[in-house]
Amino acid sequence: MSVTITRDENIAIVTVDNPPVNALGQALRQGLWDAVATLDQDPQVEAVVLICAGRTFIAGADVREFGLPPQPPHLPDVVAKIENAQKPWVAAIHGSALGGGLEVAMGCRFRVAVANASLGLPEVTLGVIPGASGTVRTPRLIGLEKAISMVTSGKPVRAEQAQKDGLIDAVIEGDLQEGAINFARSAIKQGLPKILSQRSAPQADDSFWEQQKAAVIKAAKGASAPLLAFESIRQSTLLPFDEAMAFERKTFLERRGSKEAAALRRIFFAERNATKPDFVKDITPIEIKKTAVIGGGTMGAGIVMALSNAGYPVVLVEQDAEAVARGLSNVQKIIDASVKRGILSEAQAEARLSSIKGTSDYANLADVDLVIEAVFEEISVKRDVFAKLGQACRADAILATNTSYLDPRDIAQGLPHAERFIGLHFFSPAHIMKLMEIVPTPETSEPVLATAFTLAAKLKKMPVRAGICEGFIGNRILKRYRAAAENLLRKGNKIADIDAAMRGYGLAMGPFEAQDMGGLDIAFLQREGARATGADVPETLGDILVRAGRKGQKTQGGWYDYVEGERKGRPSAQVDALLQNKISAEQPLSLEAIAETLVGEMAAEGQAILDEGIALSAVDIDLVKIHGYGFPRWRGGPMFASDKA
Ligand code: COA
Ligand code: NAD
Repeated sequence: MSVTITRDENIAIVTVDNPPVNALGQALRQGLWDAVATLDQDPQVEAVVLICAGRTFIAGADVREFGLPPQPPHLPDVVAKIENAQKPWVAAIHGSALGGGLEVAMGCRFRVAVANASLGLPEVTLGVIPGASGTVRTPRLIGLEKAISMVTSGKPVRAEQAQKDGLIDAVIEGDLQEGAINFARSAIKQGLPKILSQRSAPQADDSFWEQQKAAVIKAAKGASAPLLAFESIRQSTLLPFDEAMAFERKTFLERRGSKEAAALRRIFFAERNATKPDFVKDITPIEIKKTAVIGGGTMGAGIVMALSNAGYPVVLVEQDAEAVARGLSNVQKIIDASVKRGILSEAQAEARLSSIKGTSDYANLADVDLVIEAVFEEISVKRDVFAKLGQACRADAILATNTSYLDPRDIAQGLPHAERFIGLHFFSPAHIMKLMEIVPTPETSEPVLATAFTLAAKLKKMPVRAGICEGFIGNRILKRYRAAAENLLRKGNKIADIDAAMRGYGLAMGPFEAQDMGGLDIAFLQREGARATGADVPETLGDILVRAGRKGQKTQGGWYDYVEGERKGRPSAQVDALLQNKISAEQPLSLEAIAETLVGEMAAEGQAILDEGIALSAVDIDLVKIHGYGFPRWRGGPMFASDKA
């Protein structure tokens, strides 16, 4: 860590160098403190440019220090010291100015940034609130509405937007340091703006606060940090500056020790480690230039899109010309939807389309480096595909299956060069869902395994290694969760109450409404398939519904009845009648107890998965549930929430 001071005539340049992201650890805080003291004494200096070495401006507090007692100088004091310096400071921002980094920048009299810089207060995503004036100075700088949005969402803004919002004073083209020095020189010739602590706080009436609060509660989905941050902003408009600072600091320090903050910190570091786990760290991955996907259905089309979004050319293989056209049209639908939602520009959409080639001829796969198979979930179909791939592809091309439940070893049976085979389990919709389970077989080579992780990073996915068992990590837990939900139903709890309990816990949907959306028939057919082979698969309540033609929303009825034009299902008298003699009228549980029971079941299955070595760590299981199944992030995952982490 170093804070160095250089001079360009009347401008001092303070350069922070604390790799990798210039996080504000104690030494850096001290370094900044000392720099203010030094420069205040220097009569030659008329203004100071604060700039950072490396990939980013100060990216925030050092999250590693969050679990430890705070050490002086405390950040609010450092920010105040910079703000009250004798010479005006100019923050010169590149990369990210996040959390404490932005708070330091707001202590500076001016802020300038390069165009691709981003600025934000992501503290709530770590379960805390800003701790060094983010809730007090931000409203004074950019107004209440923008401050509330920035602080309670934790989402950063790009430089251009930041300039429009008044968060920064200028966007610098060309060299940042030079631009910032020029900015400083011209700024000192004009009158300086008032420091933020001396500006009065914006005011608003009760209806503004009520409306904003309702929106924050809705967006927070049960997490408490956004609401506490909101309250701190509200207090900052009611209290004098110093008291508002004290209120914010007190809340921040209390939050640091909360379970929510511990959960989010753990996930933060696990996510950063996910694409570079220890077991592949020293292994050189294989270079992937050209890719292919077999099957252009729901999953295949999504995987094509994910690959194309990451810049790979993709060959899409389907059974015949008609199926190729259908597959390409599935991809086209995703592209169109992305354009409509502003995710892709027309030009990007064109580029995506031209990078995708549809064919039914395996001869087009002679030069691909990676193939991902996503055909029907039937062992004979999959084996047939891999037999063809074995002949058509180079011997070193990586061949992957997206199977959900089949044993990858069975799929790869007879495949020449089995060391290049691996399971890559994507989740639907594959171009959006972050989770990717990586399932090596005993034959999979280390470079192929390592490549799966680098591929995940390129696709911006969250990879988790899983061993081989039915459903791998995620779907195996899902199965137990659904069975447990049926069990609660059998014991007299209402379908709607069980769903409400899980929504109340923080999931987007409960277990029954989620099945209605996805369709009950897929799991039913799977159970029937197993029964046909003589396996002892007990009848589920879902089986009874499917046999009665209730497959979910697509048949206007599953666990609920669906009325045309209404998205939400209604409790069904037919379902009550169908299940009548399966339900014992025991004392129903409270919603909290229902959620606790179901999360406990997930964690118990997770523990079994861990004990069998299917998952390598509890946090891997939590990443799976958070990124593949909508488990509330702020709860830390079922293992953390059930104290099994
Ligand atoms: N405190 C401590 N370590 C941090 C950190 C922080 N605030 N932010 C990042 N790191 C570490 C990461 O754990 C990683 O460590 P590793 O190399 O040992 O695994 C390293 O810095 C690089 O981070 P990474 O996220 O891989 O780099 P990136 O270039 O992709 O992204 C950021 C850079 C700054 C955008 C990103 O790290 C980020 O968003 N950090 C969080 C910032 C934040 O929330 N600050 C507010 C805290 S209140
Ligand atoms: P789907 O029925 O939507 O698509 C399958 C596609 O494969 C069809 O377009 C079909 O024409 C094509 N196909 C069949 N045989 C082929 C062959 N021999 N050559 C080329 N193409 C062929 O199915 P899906 O939901 O996309 O599932 C595909 C795979 O992904 C399955 O293994 C499934 O278990 C797995 N999966 C599905 C989901 C999901 O939520 N749907 C999630 C993860 C994994």
